[in-house]
Amino acid sequence: RALVTPGGFWTGIDLRPETGSTNADATAAALRGEPEGLVVVAEQQTAGRGRRDRQWTSPPRAGLTLSVLLRPGRADDEKEWPVVPVGAYGWLSLLVGVALLEAVRRVAEVEATLKWPNDLLVGPADRPGKAAGILAEVAGDAVVVGIGLNVTTRAEELPATTGLPATSLKLAGAATTDRDPLLRALLRGIAGWYAGWREAGGDAEMSGLLAAYRRDCATIGRPVRALLPGGGEVTGEATSVDVDGQLVIRTADGADLRVSAGDVVHVR
Ligand code: BTN
Repeated sequence: RALVTPGGFWTGIDLRPETGSTNADATAAALRGEPEGLVVVAEQQTAGRGRRDRQWTSPPRAGLTLSVLLRPGRADDEKEWPVVPVGAYGWLSLLVGVALLEAVRRVAEVEATLKWPNDLLVGPADRPGKAAGILAEVAGDAVVVGIGLNVTTRAEELPATTGLPATSLKLAGAATTDRDPLLRALLRGIAGWYAGWREAGGDAEMSGLLAAYRRDCATIGRPVRALLPGGGEVTGEATSVDVDGQLVIRTADGADLRVSAGDVVHVR
């Protein structure tokens, strides 16, 4: 609890030496009616969840493993925050991605970009690796956003991936691998972006989130192949991310397709 950051948004930090999944813990807290602002941090997860039913593994204390509980669907009269429409909830994982990228750049001083929708890539632009993943899950009117960041993970401890190689901040030459300042910067950043987004009623353009995301998204301008959740595939050039957070892909015949979920492979 000593880690609670200034600014008054976070209500408490639940620090667990070991748990199954911080996303599962925060979801249970959400269903119990906990207010937004709860953070669950674990030193070790035994059943870490990744996107698309994958697992997330990380050796004990080698990374930051946490989940935050947010309730965009509840108005906050004190802060004068209106209710955010459900259609805008998808922005939360992108918002956390922007905050994570900024924290990693500032504290660890490594080159960092985002691969749409929210993988954090670090290291040289010609051969970056994935250092973090984000998993957002909806629980009633709450959204739990989980972050797994590889900090000191050694090469031989990284999970084998089919897509991008995995890496850690240390392997990418981080100036510091202290987890405390990273966690503080991350929580401060999430609280700041979230407040702006809430004040704007979940409007990513008005709050400046869309511009910030586009600036740091390495997927825009690249040839990509998107594997759709239903099993289909779209190839073309990623030209933009739209106001709904969808990736716009221009196909060879000039059509603009919008992708809202799925896996994207950078072809080059
Ligand atoms: C991905 O597949 O890239 C997303 C990985 C998200 C992992 C984090 S670790 C903390 C939180 N708890 C979980 O069970 N998963 C997320």
